[in-house]
Amino acid sequence: MRLLVTGGAGFIGSAFVRLRLRSTDDAIVILDKLTYAGSLDRLADVRADPATGPRLELVEGDILDVSLVESLVEVADAVVNFAAESHVDRSLEAPHAFATTNIVGVYVLLEAIRRAQAGSARSIRMVQVSTDEVYGHVAAGIRRESDPVAPTNPYAATKASADLVTLGYHATYAVDCVITRGVNTFGPFQHPEKLIPLLITNALRDSVLPLYGDGMQQRDWLYVTDHAEAVARILDHGDAGQIYNIDGTGQRDNRSIAQAVVTMLGRDPALIRSIADRAGHDRRYAVDATRLRAIGWQPQVSFDHGLAQTVAWYVRNEEWWRRMKSGPWQDYYARQYDERIARSVPLADE
Ligand code: NAD
Ligand code: DAU
Repeated sequence: MRLLVTGGAGFIGSAFVRLRLRSTDDAIVILDKLTYAGSLDRLADVRADPATGPRLELVEGDILDVSLVESLVEVADAVVNFAAESHVDRSLEAPHAFATTNIVGVYVLLEAIRRAQAGSARSIRMVQVSTDEVYGHVAAGIRRESDPVAPTNPYAATKASADLVTLGYHATYAVDCVITRGVNTFGPFQHPEKLIPLLITNALRDSVLPLYGDGMQQRDWLYVTDHAEAVARILDHGDAGQIYNIDGTGQRDNRSIAQAVVTMLGRDPALIRSIADRAGHDRRYAVDATRLRAIGWQPQVSFDHGLAQTVAWYVRNEEWWRRMKSGPWQDYYARQYDERIARSVPLADE
């Protein structure tokens, strides 16, 4: 297949590109804006490998650029959209880019597909990579794909909106769309703004490990290669117009993850501090992935094994994450954390 992978220089998109180049004969064009979250280092291995490099093309650009998107969609068999503003905390302080990239950008991709197919027998599949956050806080039980969306923060609201736009293009124009709703993902090359790499890299510098509120919020965690495998499975075998939840291998509270990280790195547990909570913070996410099991996917990497691999990777790749934490990162970190850390308290007993 000729794949257009948008956001392919991101954390999960690059893992997907690596998987497809190594396990198929696909030719891949990546369209990525290379925002603060994009990093070509994530693709260095597959670009340098003579077995994969010649099948990979990189285009630096924006999914909001209609003519550029049209020219790339025109020659694609499928579009897999990982491009997004992906960090909830940033959506709280600056939601504009979330609305444009995450909603309008998806519309631009769908409209380019509709136009490329018009008047011909061509069918270009669109995989919209979404998130379990669209269901909002799940007090009990697990959410199925047929459950209503109930997002509680700007990031999740834009992702839910994009899901609806995608379903609208399927119903109205018969565009062959599938939507994936994955849970919290972790592993090598994740930007250090996200919880697990933030905990690891702060611990490596003996800095505070900041947990929001009581640190008892729960997420279901999925290793990045498993997320990539799931998206590939859905691309190849998903039914048009369907949504597929992607579950993880471990419901964990944030506190237990911070404790595991300090233990693995031999740091002082007193580095873990409670700071003022995130606005609209969902306490729990949980999804049912029966539909995805039925097309032959299940996660392979246990949470504990994945965490050990991830910690070891950040220990070995300090140069990369120090670069990601330099320059504008320092202003971001100061805005988000300095005052809250100054007012932080030890975690209360569970
Ligand atoms: P990421 O932030 O690491 O990567 C996003 C990529 O998109 C970056 O390379 C960035 O440069 C690119 N990008 C941003 N705006 C763009 C634009 N306008 N045009 C072109 N490229 C643009 O994100 P991620 O963690 O890899 O997440 C990928 C997708 O998976 C997102 O859609 C996210 O909503 C979804 N998701 C993430 C997780 C998770 O835990 N990380 C879980 C479930 C779903
Ligand atoms: O659930 C899927 C979502 O997972 C994806 O759609 C998002 O793109 C991805 O960023 C992630 O969102 P979260 O908000 O769950 O991830 P984050 O790593 O920001 O936070 C995980 C948990 O850790 C959450 O309960 C908030 C908490 N947290 C986070 C940070 C950054 C802290 O306690 N302290 C922190 O400093």
